[in-house]
Amino acid sequence: MKKVIIIGASSGIGKELAKIFASNDYEVGIAARRTDLLKELATEMPTKTYTATIDVSNPEIAIHALEKLTRDMGDVEIIIICAGTGYLNPSLNWSQEKDTIDTNVSGFTVMAGVAMRYFMQKKSGHLVGISSIAGIRGSNVCPSYNASKAYVSNYLEGLRKKAAKEKLPIMVTDILPGLVNTAMAKGDGLIWVASPQKAAIQIYRAIQRKKRTAYITKRWAIVAWLYKIMLGFIYDKI
Ligand SMILES: NC(=O)c1ccc[n+]([C@@H]2O[C@H](COP(=O)([O-])OP(=O)(O)OC[C@H]3O[C@@H](n4cnc5c(N)ncnc54)[C@H](OP(=O)(O)O)[C@@H]3O)[C@@H](O)[C@H]2O)c1
Repeated sequence: MKKVIIIGASSGIGKELAKIFASNDYEVGIAARRTDLLKELATEMPTKTYTATIDVSNPEIAIHALEKLTRDMGDVEIIIICAGTGYLNPSLNWSQEKDTIDTNVSGFTVMAGVAMRYFMQKKSGHLVGISSIAGIRGSNVCPSYNASKAYVSNYLEGLRKKAAKEKLPIMVTDILPGLVNTAMAKGDGLIWVASPQKAAIQIYRAIQRKKRTAYITKRWAIVAWLYKIMLGFIYDKI
């Protein structure tokens, strides 16, 4: 039986991904802080489901919890780091900036490290991270969120290069969503907001195709391209 772990599966994109993997005959390990939601999701799943309470912002405990989950499941093929947080924080409140960094930067790094060491030991595997279109440029209203997602994309690229240089048979995929209708989609006048189900289907396909990067939904590739080529003085004004 194929096996996948999804960290950040209690709601939103991660939850929908868990359902899609299960409906495609994967045993699924689901992790997050809200154990009650994980347990509820586990009852709906058609395949064997493992739950683990993991707070990625508490690194020492999170490391052991993810290692234990991989041991309990055995021979996990794919690990997806979906856990993330962010705030509209124009006043630059430190506790919100810190929570974003603790979760999206430190928490992501600690989970990616466990996953890579696991895959290096078993000489195969596929690491997937969820960054964001937001990581392409800075933000005036949520600067730490955008910066944290730039970190995620850059870190994943580093791990992909490490795998290539060391001839490790490990795939690394960076998923860049635009806007998805979850608690994370904050702000007014949002456009091109995909349902979490649609986003998860496209993410599942990108993982199956072993893509290096994937824009979710696909039309966000246009925005990504525009962001990349836009001159700084124009970007400052929009
Ligand atoms: N929605 C969008 O428009 C959008 C766009 C671009 C990128 N993304 C990214 O997509 C990912 C999923 O977000 P979503 O949109 O599905 O929002 P969501 O419904 O709020 O899901 C966030 C998930 O992350 C988990 N999480 C948050 N902090 C955690 C922590 N400290 N430890 C462990 N798990 C934690 C949450 O579980 P618990 O609260 O139970 O721990 C939840 O399962 C995030 O990385 C987000 O940045 C979303």
